[in-house]
Amino acid sequence: MKTFSIIGCGAVGKTVGRLLHEAGAAALRDILTRSLSSARAAADFIGAGRPVAEFGGLERVDLYLVACPDDAIAASVGELCRAGLVDRGTTVCHLSGALASDVLEPAAALGARVASVHPVKSFADPAVCVGDFAGTWCGIEGDPGARELLAELFGAIGGKIFEIDPRFKTVYHAGSVLVCNYLTALMEAGLRAYQKGGVPRETALLVMEPLVRGTVDNIFRAGTARALTGPIARGDAGVVGRQLDALESFDAELALIYRALGHVALQLSRQKGQAQAPGLAAIEELLAT
Ligand SMILES: NC(=O)c1ccc[n+]([C@@H]2O[C@H](COP(=O)([O-])OP(=O)(O)OC[C@H]3O[C@@H](n4cnc5c(N)ncnc54)[C@H](OP(=O)(O)O)[C@@H]3O)[C@@H](O)[C@H]2O)c1
Repeated sequence: MKTFSIIGCGAVGKTVGRLLHEAGAAALRDILTRSLSSARAAADFIGAGRPVAEFGGLERVDLYLVACPDDAIAASVGELCRAGLVDRGTTVCHLSGALASDVLEPAAALGARVASVHPVKSFADPAVCVGDFAGTWCGIEGDPGARELLAELFGAIGGKIFEIDPRFKTVYHAGSVLVCNYLTALMEAGLRAYQKGGVPRETALLVMEPLVRGTVDNIFRAGTARALTGPIARGDAGVVGRQLDALESFDAELALIYRALGHVALQLSRQKGQAQAPGLAAIEELLAT
């Protein structure tokens, strides 16, 4: 069985460490965090692992799972290398969605296989996450040998593997921010518009709920182009023009959002093919001005 150690063991390290340990996918050796007390707490949570205070105290293992915050990954890998723990037989991997495996370059320079695996999940509470990790999509990139090992390990704990192009990992990561965090911001923008129309916030939330849930269901059932409805799907330039004017005078930021997303909606409308070309051309002009 492959051996592994965890460098930085917070929400993600604890969840993944415990799942790998309980699945018997690999044997956990060491856990290194900033403080020995948190490494002890992580070992207790996982039910395995030796708490370690410094890089010099780590054993050599097959895989170092670097699960510290993104800003500390490069320094941690540097420490692993300086401690003489990395060679051709080692695999080093991190779990960041925002950074590619090139941040592990010092380990690669010593012959190690390097990769990153990004579980697309919000790890708020490890005790909950160990129960609902199965089915989590995990984006992977890096050396073929390292990818193979990570696919095997994360597959063993229920992860679903997909490949990422490391050259555009930041753009890839922005995708999750757009569909998750910005969806929340978009809901807030919509709420403000309802409120301006005299609808109390609580009522607006009730009104929005079936609309938003229905739209999300349609997107995953039929795809984005077929799920698009409303004035841009119909090519109704008159409505788009009046809404732009109304938003400009209410809140210029909402008008900017309407304009920016309107361009994407216009592309979808053209794919959908429901609206007449002159209406769409007029909308394009309105959105640009
Ligand atoms: N949270 C998420 O939802 C999520 C989702 C996908 C991917 N990720 C990625 O997973 C990685 C870990 O994130 P997280 O949310 O688990 O972080 P976290 O909960 O903040 O835990 C970070 C851990 O790293 C340790 N640490 C901090 N600086 C360190 C250093 N210089 N050297 C060694 N250990 C250090 C901390 O030690 P102490 O315990 O002593 O403070 C802590 O154990 C990040 O790359 C993140 O981007 C996170």
